[in-house]
Amino acid sequence: MSRQIPYGRQYIDEDDINAVIKVLRGNFLTTGPYVKEFEDRFAAYVGASYAVAVSSGTAALHLACLAGDIRRGAEVITSTMSFAASANCALYVGAKPVLADIDKKTGNISLDEIERRISKKTRAIIPVHYSGLPCFMDEIQEIARKYNYLIIEDACHALGARYKDSQIGDCKYSDMAVFSFHPVKHITTGEGGMITTNSKPIYDRLVMLRSHGITRDQKFFMEEIHDGWYYEMQMLGYNYRLTDIQAALGTSQLKKVDQFVNKRREIAQMYTEAFLDLPLDLPIEPAGCTNSYHLYLVKTNKDTRINRAGLYDRLKNKGIYCQVHYMPIHTLPFYRNELGYNWGDCPVAEDHYNRVLSIPVYPAMDYRDVEMVISALGEAVI
Ligand SMILES: Cc1ncc(COP(=O)(O)O)c(C=O)c1O
Repeated sequence: MSRQIPYGRQYIDEDDINAVIKVLRGNFLTTGPYVKEFEDRFAAYVGASYAVAVSSGTAALHLACLAGDIRRGAEVITSTMSFAASANCALYVGAKPVLADIDKKTGNISLDEIERRISKKTRAIIPVHYSGLPCFMDEIQEIARKYNYLIIEDACHALGARYKDSQIGDCKYSDMAVFSFHPVKHITTGEGGMITTNSKPIYDRLVMLRSHGITRDQKFFMEEIHDGWYYEMQMLGYNYRLTDIQAALGTSQLKKVDQFVNKRREIAQMYTEAFLDLPLDLPIEPAGCTNSYHLYLVKTNKDTRINRAGLYDRLKNKGIYCQVHYMPIHTLPFYRNELGYNWGDCPVAEDHYNRVLSIPVYPAMDYRDVEMVISALGEAVI
């Protein structure tokens, strides 16, 4: 069979496999010691005080909204150029997702749009570091302080990215940051997610919410009586736990995260140098931002003789399986039919969507794959 290159995939080595086998031979498959170890190492890596491991990035967003006390009637502003989960989490807690247009240059949420969409009901903003490029967090924080709302970073694309003097996830500019460990992300646990925060009260709520709203910790008990088996359910939580099997894989993957990010950045640099003279718009890295390149986005422009769909097909015929990130959330049938959004609501994001293509970038790519993508794209656009 001829060579096939996806837009993203995991990198698993023998250390990862052995880490999982070790858990399988041990006493705890879930709720054992590996979750805490993964959380501690993750918090140390990003520079946050606390980290809470959960079963997916989507679960992480849901719990972040609950822990942030976002309720029915509230509004949550997020970027329409994201995965549906960035907005769905508001609906899970009965709030309304308010979808904002993007900045043409960065693809991230537009700061003017945030200000334009703020209302008396706004309770939070979820900036998405789209593709791995950090949002301008100091400006978002300034707006948040002015209007007194929470910031939950959707950092699912941005493990290893940096904004000014801050590692994404250290919550220097936010209340919480949320990560995903889906196989195409920087590190994987199969499915999995993490929430980081510097707030002890938020951390305590997250821990309880991830496991049915139950606590076995005496210092939180509301009642006096407690026998050995005693526990209290104090709020409505979920089973969003990560297993020890997954956590062991996560810890093993985390040891390689810098290597992974460096390889993504190296591939991105090779692409940018090779594509400089092609009729395509390429990713930018504004001063102060270090992109961790979850995605490498190319966009057709007025000089490109082929449209995005044609480009997708030509590359697919050569065994290169690109993707489109994303159909803007406000254009998805559910958001149009149930929430009243429509095509035309966010014109910059719609134009971006019509032109954008995610080409392969992942640490398991070898240089032959990279050269293959470079020559295939060069041939496809001319
Ligand atoms: C920006 C963004 N937010 C949230 C998620 C949800 O993460 P998960 O797939 O781990 O639930 C994703 C996953 O693709 C994502 O890309």
